[in-house]
Amino acid sequence: MAEYGKYLKAARLKSGLQIKDATDKLKITKQTLINYESDKTEVPFGRLQQMADLYGVGIDVLTKGEKLEAKVASFINRKGGVGKTTLCNLLAVAFAQLDRKKILVIDTDSQRSTMQLSEEGVHENIEIAFIDFDSNMPISDLLELLEVSKGKFDLIFIDVMGSFSHAEATATIMFKSDYVIIPLEASDLAMGSTFQTLGMLPEIAAKRAQRELGFTPIGIHNKSSHTKESRSVSDLNGMMGLKLLENRLANRVRYKRMMSFKQIPFSFEENDEFLALFEEVKKVVYHG
Ligand SMILES: Nc1ncnc2c1ncn2[C@@H]1O[C@H](COP(=O)(O)OP(=O)(O)OP(=O)(O)O)[C@@H](O)[C@H]1O
Ligand SMILES: [Mg+2]
Repeated sequence: MAEYGKYLKAARLKSGLQIKDATDKLKITKQTLINYESDKTEVPFGRLQQMADLYGVGIDVLTKGEKLEAKVASFINRKGGVGKTTLCNLLAVAFAQLDRKKILVIDTDSQRSTMQLSEEGVHENIEIAFIDFDSNMPISDLLELLEVSKGKFDLIFIDVMGSFSHAEATATIMFKSDYVIIPLEASDLAMGSTFQTLGMLPEIAAKRAQRELGFTPIGIHNKSSHTKESRSVSDLNGMMGLKLLENRLANRVRYKRMMSFKQIPFSFEENDEFLALFEEVKKVVYHG
């Protein structure tokens, strides 16, 4: 019989769930879970999948004890003001608050918008760091920070500055990323600079593939509307390997004025469209 009870238990504890929380969600008895976790009963595959979903890990983490190393997601688009900081912030709070993930958010933007927002308070599962790209060795500082943080967090988000005065830095950040999240806004102006960003993807994907590292560029339609321009964003799906998500974010005051690193900026009764987007991002991040 397979002996991965200890991995099941470690993953459950890491996700912050007590036995009762887990058994309620999995609709099994306490004894069944204890038997799984002490290798007394074989876990059926369907159940394993359920547990992986609940704990927010891949199956390999449960069966092989694969090291739980932070996944890196960078938020990049050369075009300014498309929503890099906004999406980075929303997703960080959602993963921290709703999925109990430990998140490091690295601000690389000299405008320090992420840093400023974090001064008003930060969720207990989030830490914020700043890398000053006007300093002497920003890239090596960043690489060092990633190295020491990988074992301490579940996810590392990098909010990347829009300007391309640091083109090499942007390429390096992409190369270090499992996911590149590209906010897309429909306007001719935004598209021009967005194409330059998309153009970098194939080379990065090839370099990571040489090292057997996965790479998923994710497009998220932000500030969407019902205009013809907005429909043209869907043409970007598949371009340069981009995976365009089906859910989008419209232009809403709460994504602008109510942002916070403490909690998501709406109540659940509102059934906000962001929740559907978050579910979709989770699927990609947890299951590739
Ligand atoms: N879905 C949205 N609804 C309402 N306002 C939004 C939305 N997305 C972004 N904004 C607003 O648009 C502006 C630009 O967004 P944001 O700062 O996230 O973009 P950015 O890509 O990080 O910009 P920069 O390139 O300057 O770093 C901000 O004022 C933000 O509050
Ligand atoms: Mg920004």
